[in-house]
Amino acid sequence: MACVLPPLPYAKDALKGFLSADTLTFHHDKHLNAYVETTNKLVQGTEFEGKDLVAIIMGAQGPLFNNAAQAWNHEFYFKCLAPEQVALPAGIAALIDKNFESLDNFKAKFLASATGNFGSGWTWLVQNGDKLEIVNTSNAGNPLKDGKKPLLTVDVWEHAYYLDFQNRRPDYVKAFLEHINWDFIESNL
Ligand code: FE2
Repeated sequence: MACVLPPLPYAKDALKGFLSADTLTFHHDKHLNAYVETTNKLVQGTEFEGKDLVAIIMGAQGPLFNNAAQAWNHEFYFKCLAPEQVALPAGIAALIDKNFESLDNFKAKFLASATGNFGSGWTWLVQNGDKLEIVNTSNAGNPLKDGKKPLLTVDVWEHAYYLDFQNRRPDYVKAFLEHINWDFIESNL
């Protein structure tokens, strides 16, 4: 199988106050699971059978790309979140200061970008050479396609936040920014 449903890295109720157990149950068990199952179905008989998700993301088009990228993006997104406050490690702290002047400034820019990402998609912090950038992608888009290394992502599809925040995407993104697993972000450098 190209793709296996990864377990959530925390309990379904671990993020309550930010994301409810209902949101995490639907998001992980229904949405992500559907992307995983559809990827496994679509990859059969293609040149990507037996390849990993990144190889599919880099080479496939259309529905296979969409489902494989959504599977990868969601596993990455769930790993970006932490139930407890995680202190900023030195490496990512220095890069954020260098590229965005301060953590507060980074958060303000990330919030503006995620709020302005029209429709369904993802907002990312990426490493591009020796620079950090904030980029938006639409639908299943992934910055790996543009040669950029993902460090952090927020899912701005409505299914990620509608049960808890309804149409208030900015409030969801603000809360997201206070629940980041910075150790995971640092590990992606
Ligand atoms: Fe999602």
